[in-house]
Amino acid sequence: GYTVVQELGKGGFATVYLATQDTTGEAYAIKQFTSENGRDIDEDKATNERAVLERLGDHEHVVRLCDIVDDPVGVQALVLEYMGGGELFHWLKEHRRFSEPRARLYTAEIGLGLGALHDLDIVYRDLKPENLLIDTEGHIRITDFGLSKDNVTGAGAEGGTKTFCGTPEYLAPEILENRGHGKAVDWWSFGTLLYEMMCGLPPFYDTNVQRMYNKILIAPLKFPSYISKDAKAVLMALLQRAVDQRLGSAKDFSEIAAHDFYASLDMDKVYKKQIKPEFVPQIKGADTAAHFDKEFTSEKACDSVVTSKLSDEQAEASNF
Ligand code: ADE
Repeated sequence: GYTVVQELGKGGFATVYLATQDTTGEAYAIKQFTSENGRDIDEDKATNERAVLERLGDHEHVVRLCDIVDDPVGVQALVLEYMGGGELFHWLKEHRRFSEPRARLYTAEIGLGLGALHDLDIVYRDLKPENLLIDTEGHIRITDFGLSKDNVTGAGAEGGTKTFCGTPEYLAPEILENRGHGKAVDWWSFGTLLYEMMCGLPPFYDTNVQRMYNKILIAPLKFPSYISKDAKAVLMALLQRAVDQRLGSAKDFSEIAAHDFYASLDMDKVYKKQIKPEFVPQIKGADTAAHFDKEFTSEKACDSVVTSKLSDEQAEASNF
């Protein structure tokens, strides 16, 4: 079994807890599928996420599924590798923007993960800094496959899907226009992410969501003066509104990896985590959850959520 230590984060469909395995004492992240109103747990999301992770098997840049357990109400919960550095989102807020080499290595690692999903005809569809986790050495993995979609064979409408989902800032123009979309939406989001890492804000950011959609569809792409020539070129190629001209739409990640921006990286070494990250999160003392946003970690006592649906007897310990 596992004993919950504290809550790490909470979304609309799931809550993630830091837990320790009872026999080894090792830390894991347990993802429990819940719903905002505490009822109507979306078991499809749990099943979909589990299926995607199981199909993918071990990948160095996708969060590892270590075990499946039943939560206290009998819904399967995912036991994931614990990523001690927390969300990339946290570090991007903390450091405002990253150096080009740092953004290059992060996106190379992420691109390899997305490419492996695409090889299985799975589109991820939810790339954003909140879904990227850093380990204690500074390497990165993709997490949260609740929105991912399988059986998508093409880059665009052909062999694609029509469901509208994702996060406003990162939505590709073909999703906004409901043109049907395929794997290339992930490369648009990838471009948005790379831009945000290097510039501090997504390329078409606006406080008003409607205006932001409009900018995604028509606004010219602008760069701060400190952005290098290679970085500009790769961003322009990724943030290309015409799907069939977008970098990645023809040969997937290998096409992106071959761009001058990534020329200094040996992707074999990137995959194997043999390139040393310039930033290593400092894990302060015993407070392993130090890098999770206070908003989440201090909000609730560790076992209040887990036990909320239980009888006292079941609630004896917040265990899975
Ligand atoms: N938040 C969501 N998933 C996590 C994980 N695997 N490790 C740490 N924090 C997380």
